[in-house]
Amino acid sequence: MKIIPGVTTQVLADRIASELGTRASLCEFKRFPDGELYTRVVDEIKGEEVTIVQSLMADTGLISLLQLIDAVEEAHKTTVVIPYLGYARQDKRFKPGEAISSRAIARGISFAGIVDRIYVVNVHNPAVLRYFDVDAKDLNAAPLIGDYIAQRAIQDPVIIGPDEGARELAKAVAEPHGFNFDVLEKKRISGDQVQIKPKEVSVAGRNVIIVDDIISTGGTIAEAAALLKAHDANDIYVTCIHGLFAQNATLRILNAGVTEIIATDTIQSIFSEISVAKMIADELST
Ligand code: R5P
Repeated sequence: MKIIPGVTTQVLADRIASELGTRASLCEFKRFPDGELYTRVVDEIKGEEVTIVQSLMADTGLISLLQLIDAVEEAHKTTVVIPYLGYARQDKRFKPGEAISSRAIARGISFAGIVDRIYVVNVHNPAVLRYFDVDAKDLNAAPLIGDYIAQRAIQDPVIIGPDEGARELAKAVAEPHGFNFDVLEKKRISGDQVQIKPKEVSVAGRNVIIVDDIISTGGTIAEAAALLKAHDANDIYVTCIHGLFAQNATLRILNAGVTEIIATDTIQSIFSEISVAKMIADELST
């Protein structure tokens, strides 16, 4: 099997290839003077099985992925791994006339009939996978975060999701290791007063691990961290599957009193301490 890296996912593609005992194929990526992207798979692809690895966190990622799919059209079988499937938060029409962006993207990727199967990692809303015309599977990296926390031997950790939407994630991180978990709850006290606090667990004097699927602007996490500090939490670690760290997210989070930020490598950054490469390689070899 040939592993074809996208323009922004070269490190992860290399790690997946190593897990499979091979090397990622060399590709060329450049921009024309007018800003258009140029993509070339240097190895000749004729009749073999290929796996393209490319996250979609900006428009460049999507164009690069579409170009790579076209470039490998003579492959015998084409798998696409999209470690971070961007646009998945735009999963329905909120106002008339709006694009359902996750559907538009899924249609674009599966349109030409070249792609045989798709893997994503902790997609924000798994329901969007139905928009692909081919088999699409969501892989769960939450247990890898749990393993990482266990291996760091952080004393008496409590896993906190910043909102109800993060409950399943917090549970999947915590349960295999028997850690406590909870989510933050917003309660309206009066017309202009809102109280946010952990639903059931006390965090006073305990080390807290906040988990979320995506960190984008860092607003959600910064608010959660400040709140947990106000409830006398000890050290606060922030973990996520997909670290976008848009705008000033890093400083917003650190300034809220966070000790450390930890992310996976679905999007490569200096916080990518946890690799999803083995999980993906295991799936590819089944
Ligand atoms: C929201 O539903 C997601 O799970 C994340 O909590 C959200 O995308 C984080 O965004 P931000 O970092 O901009 O607050």
